[in-house]
Amino acid sequence: MKKFALGIATGLALAIVAAFVMGMGVLMYVEQGYMDSRADIPPSSFEKTQAMEALDASLDRCAPKAKNPIQPTASTLSQGAKLYETYCSRCHGAMDRSETAWRILLYPPPPQFPKKPTDMKEFENFYVIKHGVRWTGMPAWSGELSDAQIWTLVTYLNEMKKPTSAMPGMNHGAEPSNAGSEEKGGRK
Ligand code: HEC
Repeated sequence: MKKFALGIATGLALAIVAAFVMGMGVLMYVEQGYMDSRADIPPSSFEKTQAMEALDASLDRCAPKAKNPIQPTASTLSQGAKLYETYCSRCHGAMDRSETAWRILLYPPPPQFPKKPTDMKEFENFYVIKHGVRWTGMPAWSGELSDAQIWTLVTYLNEMKKPTSAMPGMNHGAEPSNAGSEEKGGRK
């Protein structure tokens, strides 16, 4: 029994030392300047997964599970297209799928929604758009856009998931059959 208790005490002590050494290691790594500050190299897979997990966990804890009040209609989608074009396309890519310089310059690079729509839930998108994402280029839009405008954008982003969507400004790079329609939000 004495041996057992001694074993546990030694194990615990070793665990504490290991945690301390690891903590010091991380601190040294950061303080000695080993953490790369360059934004013109791709994020490592470690960074990507850690950042994604941190964002997912924060959204799980903080984002209110609100229901999107904006239905996808011709009118709301056209408004969404206009808002996207004005505020978002410079980073997240235009609907003609051209990439912007901001994608190249920002670290982490902003997801290009016209090519790869967001897979987050609507209330999560609302929360991210409204409050932004710390330590990334994603701005908080709470000071610029109303809740209704943000939900309109969420509806528009959601529509991008539908490959056959005939929504304004959207051409999924497939047939140019809609190219002639005089929709607002169309972009050359
Ligand atoms: C200055 C550049 C910039 C602008 C402008 C911008 N974003 Fe972002 N956005 C980002 C970056 C960078 C990320 C990636 C954040 C991350 O990696 O966690 C992001 C992430 C997002 C996400 C989370 C996507 C996902 O699936 O992980 C959403 C949703 C989003 N942005 C919507 C918008 C909308 C809507 C607008 C316009 C109102 C907008 N953004 C404007 C840079 C920008």
